[in-house]
Amino acid sequence: MGCCGHCSPAKRLPETHPIAHIVRETAHVQTFTFKVSLGAKPGQFVMVWLPGVDEVPMSVAEDDGKELKITFFAAGDMTEKLAQCKEGDLVGLRGPFGTHYTWEKKQKLALLAGGYGAAPMHFVAKEAAKDGCTVDVFVGARGKEHLLYLDALCALKRVALHVATDDGSQGFKGTNVAALVEELDGGARYDQLFACGPERMLVAVSQLSAQRKIPSQLSLERYMKCGYGLCGNCVVDPLGIRLCTDGPVVKNDLCMEITEFGKFHRDDVGKKHLF
Ligand SMILES: Cc1cc2nc3c(=O)[nH]c(=O)nc-3n(C[C@H](O)[C@H](O)[C@H](O)COP(=O)(O)OP(=O)(O)OC[C@H]3O[C@@H](n4cnc5c(N)ncnc54)[C@H](O)[C@@H]3O)c2cc1C
Ligand code: FES
Repeated sequence: MGCCGHCSPAKRLPETHPIAHIVRETAHVQTFTFKVSLGAKPGQFVMVWLPGVDEVPMSVAEDDGKELKITFFAAGDMTEKLAQCKEGDLVGLRGPFGTHYTWEKKQKLALLAGGYGAAPMHFVAKEAAKDGCTVDVFVGARGKEHLLYLDALCALKRVALHVATDDGSQGFKGTNVAALVEELDGGARYDQLFACGPERMLVAVSQLSAQRKIPSQLSLERYMKCGYGLCGNCVVDPLGIRLCTDGPVVKNDLCMEITEFGKFHRDDVGKKHLF
C-alpha cells in the first residue's frame, strides 16, 4: 500500500520542540505551547511523540504562524506521562495531517464543542471571525468544572458563547446540541454547523443537520498510528476511507455513509469496541 502523498516527507518525521508554556485548564486538561508553526489549519491534527513512551494524535488548538498549541486530557498511559512534563521538556511533533473545516466569507456558523473539542473550535472561531463570519459557539460539558476555553472564546470579536452543562451547574441545563435546537426553534439561522467532541454528540449533530437541512462538518476520531495514510488503522466501514487523510473533518453527507459511525471503533489491532 502506498502513502496518500498528501504530505511532504518532512511532515512525516517528528521534530522535537521544548514546551514553551504550560497552562492547566482543569484538573485533567492542560495546554502546551510550542514556539513553532507547522502551518496547521483549524481541524487538522499533529502526532505528538513522547520519546520512550508513545505517539498519539492531537488536534491543533492554535497555529498562528509563530506558536502551536495542543490541549489534552490525561486519558491513559501516554497522556498521563505528557501531563507530568515541565516547561522546557522536549516533545516530538509531526504533521499537520488531515482535512480541516472550511467556510465562506461572512457565513453564519454554529460550532459545537464537547470536551477537548473546545480547543480546536476556538481555533476555528478565531480564524472564521477574521473572514467576517458570525460565529455562535456551543460549549458543552458534564458540569462546569469540565468547561474549557470560555474566557478565550468570550474575548473573540464576532463570536457569541453559549454554555451548556448536563447537570445545569452553568448555562443551559442539557446538551449543547439541545441548546442549539432551542436557538434554531427561536429563529436562529446558520449556513453550517461544525462539531468536535464525543461521538454521541457528533451523532446528534449529524441527525440535526440532516433533519433541518443545514450542512455540517464533523471531526471523527479513530485509532491513528502513521497519520498520513500508510498503515490503514483508521479505515472506517464500509467506505474504506482513511480518517487520517480523508478526515478527521468530514462533511455530514459522507459521515452518514459510515455505518460504524456512532456504533463502534477499532483499537490498535483492529478489534471492534462498541460505543
Ligand atoms: C484526530 C484526533 C484528534 C485528537 N485530538 C485530541 C486532543 O486535541 N486532545 C486530547 O486530549 N485527545 C485527542 N485525541 C485523543 C487522543 O489521541 C487519545 O486520548 C490518546 O491517544 C490517548 O492515549 P493514552 O496512551 O494516554 O491512553 P490509552 O489508555 O492508550 O487510550 C485511551 C483512549 O484513547 C484512545 N487512543 C489511544 N491511542 C490512540 C491513537 N493512537 N489514536 C487514536 N486514539 C487513541 C484509545 O482508543 C482509548 O479510547 C485525538 C484523537 C484523534 C484521532
Ligand atoms: S492510515 Fe495510518 S493512521 Fe490513517
